[in-house]
Amino acid sequence: MPSSARRKVFVTRVIDPAALERLRTEATVTVWRDELPPPESVLRSTLKNADAVLSMVTDKIDARLIAEAAHLRIISNLAVGVDNIDLEAATRAGIAIGHTPGVLTEATADLAFGLLMATARRIAEADRHVRAGMWRTWGPMTLLGRDVHSSTLGLIGFGAIGQAMARRAAGFGMRVLYLIYPSSKLHNGRVAGAMGVTLPRLLADSDYVSIHVPLTPKTRHMIGARELAQMKPGAILINTARGPVVDQAAMAAALKSGHLGGAGLDVTDPEPIESGDPILQFDNVVITPHIGSASIAARARMAAIAVENILDVFIGRVPRFCANEQVRLRPLKDAT
Ligand code: GLV
Repeated sequence: MPSSARRKVFVTRVIDPAALERLRTEATVTVWRDELPPPESVLRSTLKNADAVLSMVTDKIDARLIAEAAHLRIISNLAVGVDNIDLEAATRAGIAIGHTPGVLTEATADLAFGLLMATARRIAEADRHVRAGMWRTWGPMTLLGRDVHSSTLGLIGFGAIGQAMARRAAGFGMRVLYLIYPSSKLHNGRVAGAMGVTLPRLLADSDYVSIHVPLTPKTRHMIGARELAQMKPGAILINTARGPVVDQAAMAAALKSGHLGGAGLDVTDPEPIESGDPILQFDNVVITPHIGSASIAARARMAAIAVENILDVFIGRVPRFCANEQVRLRPLKDAT
């Protein structure tokens, strides 16, 4: 049995069984089996003795928790986003942050485009209409929605997922505008026939605005009352990135005034959305519970990468998908 078999890994939720099996061949694995995430006290006490944690976006791993995790060498997040982790504290402590970019790109873009379609053509609302027994006849003015084809899509963020959205939009005959973030450089018309523009222009010209930026201090409330007012009257906002990128109270106000024509949201602030949140009253809002990457294949690939990231660190390497590449890994303690 290799000495690394005794390294301790805490997995904060049940994940793909094949990935767990692979991890078990190399380490002692504890899995938190509840539907809800481990409470902070459990995370804290478990991480005190763990060499690695395979975490979820729902696990808040802050500076205090990191300071107490004396043996931890990697926080391997089952996500591309790592805003649930204090990146600076982890880097200072010599802890790598693994993540799972690439393998969830297409699944997330599928969901974002699905939300766009559902909101534009009132699909969820129409389903509620049928189930409520309101389908009495074919109606010439019933449930009229907006065209997706021939409209303009504005992409805030033009990384892998933003570009995957642009490819889908091209298939629907949409015009695509984009804003590269965080770079302020504009790339005009170089990708998939799309055009790089400023944020005000993107907001003013788009029928649909879709957000694809990470959550950072700079992007928190990047779309607030002012930006919503700059959108075309009746335009639709899609958010599959992170809830706090949008000022949710300002979005509710824009929906109430009718200036915002609808919203397709896979992420909210907070998550889960509070039962009294005004957003829930609007029929022209479609909400899904943060399932952007939730295809069977994408989640299996994410789990496999999250495991490989951990195993990389156990042999002294920076993980293959590392969100803090500048990290200088703390030395391995001897496995016991
Ligand atoms: C999910 O939200 C992710 O960041 O992968």
